[in-house]
Amino acid sequence: MMTDKELFDEAVKAAQHSYSPYSHFRVGAALLSKDGRLFIGCNIENASYSLANCAERTAVFKAVSEGVTEFKAIAVAGSSTEDFTSPCPPCGACLQVLSEFCGDDLVIILAKGWFKLSDFLPMRFDSASMK
Ligand code: THU
Repeated sequence: MMTDKELFDEAVKAAQHSYSPYSHFRVGAALLSKDGRLFIGCNIENASYSLANCAERTAVFKAVSEGVTEFKAIAVAGSSTEDFTSPCPPCGACLQVLSEFCGDDLVIILAKGWFKLSDFLPMRFDSASMK
């Protein structure tokens, strides 16, 4: 079992792999699956700026591509310095991707505490919205 602090520290470590030569903003995510596996991700930018992939989506896509679709928690750490103590909340695109696989029981761990998906995304577009 990982503590919130341990998962957050994994996110900070993951940010060290960030490929962010354009924004110089390093982001790391550490995603813990219900079966206890850890998937880390970082932001990956591109000279064609809009193709940047966020750390959270990197982590989710890694997990789903390995057949893992149920998650307990995700920690996110972002900074343009070595100080990761300011919260870096997931962007709207990442919240939408997370919401495809996670309910409100997902714990979102940021530098200053933990949150639920509904704290950021109170009404979400999902498969039920298309019925
Ligand atoms: N970024 C993330 O990795 N996650 C987020 O939720 C917000 C933004 C990245 C994208 C880009 O590489 C950099 O932060 C600056 O926007």
